[in-house]
Amino acid sequence: MRLGLEIVRAIRAAAGDRLLLLYRHTPQEDAPGGYSLADTLQFMPELVHAGVDVLDISPSIGPHGEHAALAAAVKQAVSVPVIAVNGMREVARAEAALREGKCDLVALGRQLIADAHWPTKVRDGRLGEIIACTECSEACFGGLRRGVPIGCVNNPASGKEYLAQA
Ligand SMILES: Cc1cc2nc3c(=O)[nH]c(=O)nc-3n(C[C@H](O)[C@H](O)[C@H](O)COP(=O)(O)O)c2cc1C
Ligand code: SF4
Repeated sequence: MRLGLEIVRAIRAAAGDRLLLLYRHTPQEDAPGGYSLADTLQFMPELVHAGVDVLDISPSIGPHGEHAALAAAVKQAVSVPVIAVNGMREVARAEAALREGKCDLVALGRQLIADAHWPTKVRDGRLGEIIACTECSEACFGGLRRGVPIGCVNNPASGKEYLAQA
């Protein structure tokens, strides 16, 4: 826990109450001997005590694919808002996670690469206009792995949104 706690304490000491401090944490490590969800549930309250305002749990999907299950586990352990991320591009799933109290906010990764306008389309009820992320990870994570600019196989304009605005 020491690295995260010392970083958070140093930021809070330097910034006082002038900023909202968000911390992203992966709730369990896949590698053999890696930390567990039980470790995370000890760590998260310590982070809040050190000055974190919002926790971002990535991924927050449970071991059997249950939506926002790991965010929900963290939410039980802290009083600050908790973000669920991973697979939240499906509006019904995101709304269910919020309604069921599993999280306070949802975040999107790849869906915003596939369609940067997802939030406004959802807000305006234009669900049929969304360019859907098919979760193939080919051009986004794939680009990152290959060391080339990231994009989306379903949207040739991805990453070039500024051209449309010009
Ligand atoms: C190209 C790419 C880069 C990412 N970089 C980071 C990163 O630096 N740190 C991080 O915590 N997550 C990173 N992520 C993970 C996303 O923030 C997100 O948690 C993950 O893709 C799962 O959410 P999703 O199903 O909405 O994509 C990255 C994802 C992609 C596709
Ligand atoms: S390349 Fe695949 S996973 Fe990545 S944003 Fe596009 S559809 Fe989603």
